[in-house]
Amino acid sequence: MAEFRLPKNSRIGKGKTYQAEAGAANVRRFQVYRYDPEGEENPRMDTYEVALDNCGPMVLDALLHIKDDMDSTLTLRRSCREGICGSCAMNIDGTNTLACTKAIADVAGDVRITPLPHMEVVKDLVPDLNHFYAQYESIEPWLKADSPASASGERLQSPEDRDKLDGLYECILCACCSTSCPSYWWNGDRYLGPAILLQAYRWIVDSRDEATGERLDALEDPFKLYRCHTIMNCTKTCPKGLNPAKAISEIKKLIVERKA
Ligand code: SF4
Ligand code: SF4
Ligand code: FES
Repeated sequence: MAEFRLPKNSRIGKGKTYQAEAGAANVRRFQVYRYDPEGEENPRMDTYEVALDNCGPMVLDALLHIKDDMDSTLTLRRSCREGICGSCAMNIDGTNTLACTKAIADVAGDVRITPLPHMEVVKDLVPDLNHFYAQYESIEPWLKADSPASASGERLQSPEDRDKLDGLYECILCACCSTSCPSYWWNGDRYLGPAILLQAYRWIVDSRDEATGERLDALEDPFKLYRCHTIMNCTKTCPKGLNPAKAISEIKKLIVERKA
């Protein structure tokens, strides 16, 4: 029988509240998902009252302020703090995005933060991305060419062909799109999901790559590619403004065209 409730040990409980110092001004409340795999307790939402005058303007600034000055046990990933590395992806105010480029001022009311949805949680805001990276490896994300490069060692490309990579090479593999995709939630074991398919298309469309047929053969599969039902959550949520749904439809088009 279908189960519509989380198992008992996954239900989120009420957590602790960390109050701002007496007299602090400009205070915002951050509700943050907490889960410790080494403890026996269920996940909980802790509340931190942050004096915004003491931290920078982005949600990541507030999380680092919490970790540095209020509760050092909070665990999260981050590196570049400027939307380049993709490691601070999480769900903020109901949307998957990057904590370092999401302004606190753009969230109304309490700022609610949970890990990327439908992933195993390693700890607090850190999802397990091992399967996601294995799927990335499966599309062989590197240039494949047997013909010799030019005398200079460069593999040349016309400006028009180079333009075809725009909107693809900017992907930072943050997984915001894949973890917003209902098809990926239900079939993520076999469906590659929007991020990996956008990356696959990036190599398919690269004029220097000579493995296009082989790459399309590998994707022509009822699960790897055809679980996309054009729901468009992926494109709506991408913090880099990319369009994975379009990349997926271009792959499908190429598969149809080569049969014609
Ligand atoms: S397409 Fe956008 S949301 Fe998806 S992984 Fe790449 S940058 Fe992140
Ligand atoms: S368009 Fe496809 S990949 Fe994007 S959210 Fe919808 S089903 Fe998922
Ligand atoms: S810290 Fe690198 S993208 Fe946010």
